[in-house]
Order: sequence, then C-alpha cells, then structure tokens
Amino acid sequence: MKIAGENYRTIWFEPAKKVVKIIDQTKLPFNFEIISLNNFIDAFNAIKEMRVRGAPLIGATAAYALYLASKEKEDINFVKKKAEEIKKARPTAVNLSWAVNRILNKVNTQNITQSILEECIKICDEDIKICEKIGEHGLQILQKIKKKQINILTHCNAGWLATIDWGTATAPIYKARDEGINLNIWVDETRPRNQGSSLTSYELIHEKINHKVIADNTGGLLMQRGEVDLCIVGTDRVSKNGDVANKIGTYLKALAAKDNNIPFYVALPSTTYDPNLENGGLIPIEERSDDELKQVVGVDEDNTIRKVNIYPKNTKGLNLGFDITPANLISGFITEKGVFKPEDIKKIL
Ligand code: MRU
Repeated sequence: MKIAGENYRTIWFEPAKKVVKIIDQTKLPFNFEIISLNNFIDAFNAIKEMRVRGAPLIGATAAYALYLASKEKEDINFVKKKAEEIKKARPTAVNLSWAVNRILNKVNTQNITQSILEECIKICDEDIKICEKIGEHGLQILQKIKKKQINILTHCNAGWLATIDWGTATAPIYKARDEGINLNIWVDETRPRNQGSSLTSYELIHEKINHKVIADNTGGLLMQRGEVDLCIVGTDRVSKNGDVANKIGTYLKALAAKDNNIPFYVALPSTTYDPNLENGGLIPIEERSDDELKQVVGVDEDNTIRKVNIYPKNTKGLNLGFDITPANLISGFITEKGVFKPEDIKKIL
C-alpha cells in the first residue's frame, strides 16, 4: 500500500547490505522512519518494543530474526536456541511460533543462512497473496450490501501495517474501494496504544479512504443508530472452537453487534489459526506495562514529539493487551480460503 503516493511493504530484505528493513511503527503517525535490523537482537527488540506489531508482521520479523542469527553464527544449534528466545518476545500472536517452526522445518543444514533467507522471503511473498485473497473474499460480502454507502467499524490496526501488505481486516476495504464502492470506516481509537487512530487512520489517509476515528466506547451508540452495517476486525490467534483473541475491546464490540443484529466478521490468514488450542481460554494474554495507560505520546505546536503523563502520580493501572471473543458472537471468518462459519474454522488448514 501507499505512503505519500509510494508503495511500501512493512518489512523487506536489502541484498546490498544484507540487512532487513522495517518501518518503525513507534514513530507513526508523526514521523515516517525506515530502520535497519542488523542482527538478531535488533529484530528481537523490534518485536518486543512494538516497532513492528500485528500478528503476521510479528511472524515475518521473527523469521528474519533467525536469518540474522544465522548470519552471526552459521550453526543449527545456535539458530535453534535463538528460535526459543524469539518465541518468547510476545505471547499472544500465534504467527510468531508458526513462522519460527516453519523456518526450523525448512532450514537446509548444509546451507543454513541462505536457506533461511529464502524461506523468509517466501513467507512475506505468501502473506501478501494471502491477504489479497482475504480482500477478494471479503469484497463478496460487501458487494451484497446494497446501500449508497457502507459503514464498517474496525478495531485496532489489522491493516497493511500489521501484515506485509493489504492487511487482514482492511483488505476487503481496499478491494471495495478499487471496485468503486462508497465506504465510511469507523476507526476505533483503540486505547491504550491507539493503533486505530495512529496507524489505521494513517493508512486510510494515505490510501484516501473515507473514515472517522471514534473513541472506543462510541461504537455501541452508532450501532443502535443504524450507522454501522458490519464490523470487520483482525485477530492474533483463533482457537480450534473458533474463539478469537484480538486487541482488548474487541469482545465488547462483538457483544454490541450481536445485540443490534449487526454482522461481526473476523479476518485472518490460516497462519493465525491455532489447531493446538481447544478454546480461547487457553490463549495466553499479554499483560503490558501500565505506563502505556498513563502516558500518551503526541506532538506539540512546535512539532516536537512528547510523552506526557495523564494520570495522578502513583496511580496504578492494569494493561491487558487482548481479549477473547467467543465463537458464538462471530458471524464469519474471512480467510484466504473463503468465508467460514465459526464451527467450520478447522477447514482453514
Ligand atoms: O498489540 P498489537 O499492536 O501487536 O496488536 C495486535 C493487533 O494488531 C491487533 O490485535 C490486530 O487487530 C490483529 S493482528 C492483524
């Protein structure tokens, strides 16, 4: 997708310097900065510090972390050790361990570094195709809504910045825009890190898609007023029974959608389905520092980026990163293989 008219991916390999490049998402929306990941620890920290985030992109970065590790020491036991380390960088998104396991399964022990690099490039190229397919299947849902303007509510950032390109929840939006469908996107601000207002809105502005940011608690009223036609969200992990882990606040949107008879769709690549977990209660939920609640980053009138405290000193907070939306609140899963009912999500593999 585009930033200021130029096409970008979120992560790519630069052959000349043999480094990995990413867009530093902690600087968005105020500054657009590309940084290099030169070694394993750079990639580990990029995931940990959320310079990259979003389940598919975390997976791709973890894969490249193993390429960078093997460049430091071309030894399979060293790579395996680093694989265990990187798996712990963030707990909820299953794409991380999926990508690491794929690299370990495909590594050629005669030619470790080169074979890992080739697999990283494949993972990224495949992710783009998968997300585009999600867009095509989601488009068919949108084409059935016969209205002058379709109002879609989305939560967090499940856009191209969370993947390699296209996004999951946003792929149908970009496809619908290309078909000339008139859209309005309600973008949940998504406290505490504001991935909706800082990232989804940033994407949609650069792709010229009509949208408005709303405070996280506004969706319910908009649904009651008939101003939401459907919700599409992303996910970080789906369990075998179709329960969905996604950014905190997703569950409340799904409840409100059910109460108002509004379809609630979850968009995902097959890499986000976890066949090893029976239900959502078993999905590990990330607990992050309460500083993310207490401190807000913005720009002042001089265009200087500042972090300010917004709570009384010594106030404590609880910052849970994700919640679980039970399968019974979900209308369908939009995947690269088609749209599935929650009870059929096993067919994604
Ligand atoms: O904590 P983040 O920013 O990595 O959050 C993950 C997400 O981006 C969302 O939960 C998203 O909706 C699913 S990932 C496509």
